[in-house]
Amino acid sequence: MKALILAGGAGTRLRPITYTRAKQLVPVANRPILFYGIDALVEAGITDIGVIVGDTRDEVIDALGDGSRFGCTITFIPQESPAGLAHCVLIAGAFLGDEPFVMFLGDNLLEQDLGAFVGAFDASGDGPDAKILLKQVDDPQRFGVAELDGAGHVVRLVEKPEQPPSDLALVGVYLFGPRIHEAVRSIVPSPRGELEITDAIQWLIDRGSTVTAEILQGWWIDTGKLTPLLEANRLLLDKITRRIDGSVDAASALVGNVVVEAGARIVRSRLRGPLTIGADTVVLDSFVGPHTAIGARCTVERSEIEHSVLMDGSTVRDIERLEDSLIGREAEISRSRTKPRALRLMVGDHCQIDVE
Ligand code: DAU
Repeated sequence: MKALILAGGAGTRLRPITYTRAKQLVPVANRPILFYGIDALVEAGITDIGVIVGDTRDEVIDALGDGSRFGCTITFIPQESPAGLAHCVLIAGAFLGDEPFVMFLGDNLLEQDLGAFVGAFDASGDGPDAKILLKQVDDPQRFGVAELDGAGHVVRLVEKPEQPPSDLALVGVYLFGPRIHEAVRSIVPSPRGELEITDAIQWLIDRGSTVTAEILQGWWIDTGKLTPLLEANRLLLDKITRRIDGSVDAASALVGNVVVEAGARIVRSRLRGPLTIGADTVVLDSFVGPHTAIGARCTVERSEIEHSVLMDGSTVRDIERLEDSLIGREAEISRSRTKPRALRLMVGDHCQIDVE
């Protein structure tokens, strides 16, 4: 079985949530989201992986390399513009051939491993042409939504409906047999101008294919927004184990599951886990609270931070309290006493700032 990971977009429709351009590379617990998906596929025994790349291809290719560090082979498939999830399958036709495959959306993060889901599909020779993963959600309007019959088969799929037929959202992991290729060649773009994978699956259902569904156990997060991203960070940090490779001076106190990477220095500070401090980061005269992931080469001075993600190279200085925040790379947040007293900002695209 092969896999197709969708890490394209970030053009017009897929706006980045911070200055990191590829939303799939935003770190959660100090690792890019996309890496967790690749690990899950490799753990499920899939090592031949195609990755769709778009505007952010340089950054994605740079991060993944040839896949050897994950134990897989990666083939990059460039997509000119984000023309839809089914369009990704269309352009990956030559790579996928007639093998069954998993399609994985690169901005999704799942707790459940994929072994059982993938294995069961693989075993069924004349089984379903597609299998989808579903999860009950409170806000189905934001997702693809499935309607099931009494036997648990999918009868209808709709993309981001105003009136959802159920509360079962499509999770970004799909299993397909070769018939999907005919489907993606046959459908036409939706009113928003995309080739929708939901339409391709509906095309299969309408032509007598069996499409089965499994309800996801465990948590799942579509990380394209700030709150789910911090939530994912919290859930993953809850699983870390304590490891101190950097230096901690005698005046500092570390409580709970704390990771301090090599080259990091903790000076006169209190760290209350779970949290991670990246390589070569300096934390000075500060408090870092639970569910915080501070990237590599950051500086935190005379500040308090909790439930936040700081990406590589950022600085937080003299900030009394920073909470529920996502700070991009090389960003600087500081308090100066310069008169006149004012907020002085240099803010990137699509940012949100909540002033106390
Ligand atoms: O997260 C689950 C949801 O993902 C499903 O419930 C929806 O049915 C499905 O359409 C999808 O909705 P999103 O609006 O979240 O999709 P998004 O545009 O964010 O794209 C998902 C991933 O696929 C993301 O990593 C970017 C990538 N992508 C997307 C498009 C449209 C591509 O690589 N190429 C594309 O053309």
